[in-house]
Amino acid sequence: MTSAVTHSEPIVSKVTPAFNILSFLSEKRHSRHHTQAGIHAFVQGVMEGSVTDYQASAWLMAVCCNGLSLDETAWLTEAYVDSGERLDVSALMGNGLGPVVDKHSTGGVGDKTTLVLLPVLAACGAQVVKLSGRGLGFTGGTIDKLEAIPGFHTALDNAALISQTAQLGLALSSQTPNLAPADGTLYALRDVTSTVDSIPLIAASVVSKKIASGAPTIVLDIKVGLGAFMKTLEEARQLAEWCRAVGQRLGRSIATVISSMEEPLGYAIGHTLEVMETIDTLKGQGPKDLVALTVELGAVTLFSAGVETSLDAAKARIQAVLNNGDAYALFERWVSAQGGDVEAIRNTNQLPQAKNQLPLLAATSGTIAGVDALLVAQAAKMLGAGRTKKEDVLDLSVGVIVHKKVGECITAGEPWATLYANTQGVEEAQQLLSQALSISVGEVTLPSLILETCLPDSITPNMIFKALDESH
Ligand code: URA
Repeated sequence: MTSAVTHSEPIVSKVTPAFNILSFLSEKRHSRHHTQAGIHAFVQGVMEGSVTDYQASAWLMAVCCNGLSLDETAWLTEAYVDSGERLDVSALMGNGLGPVVDKHSTGGVGDKTTLVLLPVLAACGAQVVKLSGRGLGFTGGTIDKLEAIPGFHTALDNAALISQTAQLGLALSSQTPNLAPADGTLYALRDVTSTVDSIPLIAASVVSKKIASGAPTIVLDIKVGLGAFMKTLEEARQLAEWCRAVGQRLGRSIATVISSMEEPLGYAIGHTLEVMETIDTLKGQGPKDLVALTVELGAVTLFSAGVETSLDAAKARIQAVLNNGDAYALFERWVSAQGGDVEAIRNTNQLPQAKNQLPLLAATSGTIAGVDALLVAQAAKMLGAGRTKKEDVLDLSVGVIVHKKVGECITAGEPWATLYANTQGVEEAQQLLSQALSISVGEVTLPSLILETCLPDSITPNMIFKALDESH
């Protein structure tokens, strides 16, 4: 994991007269600091094509090895934002649908929280405008998951993002050429060059999308554990701090929640399977951990935006919309608004289906001590759920259902997981999964899901009441 030093430099002109990519690469290769102008010129070069994919990849690798300072990270974030437009959400303010909010996850396994949380937030009186990404490294991406719904359009332009939000209270898009497009280009390269797990690169990528999409309230879910890019709590804390610090420099106060990703979130991993679990959750029948994380992130968002005056009140409201059908009703309207086939949501047999279901049996009896989220994700990728090259086409039907969570009992011969597979990668996936399960004969300590929550620095009672006034 890259750690980086903090230093302060004055903000100067963003444009450099003569940019030399080889000197720029050499600078980072030798752990020297870039200038603000150099970083802007690099990002501009990537967008114009004067910096090639292989040069950009070399820089990404140098950053993974040698880090970026906080200044450099803020400049990179700013350059990503400047590569496109900033969504003007002012038309949504004071329209009676509530404050404008945004949420982002740093990436996990089985993490379909965004799919659940967006309709929940809209049902609770907030408006969500969100840019999401595709799968990155071993983690799944919200955009790919939504594409399992036939017809769902994942690319909305700025006008469509605003008009849909004004009508429905939520809209979500992939990175279009308009909003932080440089992050989109470098994100796709990072995915296939093993340059994802770098604190500055993740911070710049996440925060730039949030700044470009304009919401004043931003909540980040920072994942930590085997199935996350941050493997230790210390790294996750550093990423959370950097995201907050970069946000602060660019004028946004960001809330962070650090959550565990040792075992997959929920039971389903894979695009169709995760959409199906989303639907169950929005109908009040979700897995406990997915519901708990949705409630925590949602409560922090509603409280930070001033929709509710306490976290407890926000949690109660979220539970209510999950149980009374309001959040599910909004999900259907969302799918329909973005061109998706609502019939396929009502009858999920119409989503892409894998041909084979192969159970994996426990070899011994005992208590589940661990389900390795990374191995499960790698197995799903083997089956076709992830990319190895930028051009790879995903198989949206494949994946894994884990039947048991840590702390539950299992008997030898009982299925602990089922593989949803077509022809690709079945043996390799089975091989990986055979190492993913740990069974203990003794007591197992139940892990905590929510590890740390940090509200935005700028939250004050006055702001809450002002936001409340605006939303009613
Ligand atoms: N999510 C993003 O948008 N970017 C990253 O780098 C990691 C997770």
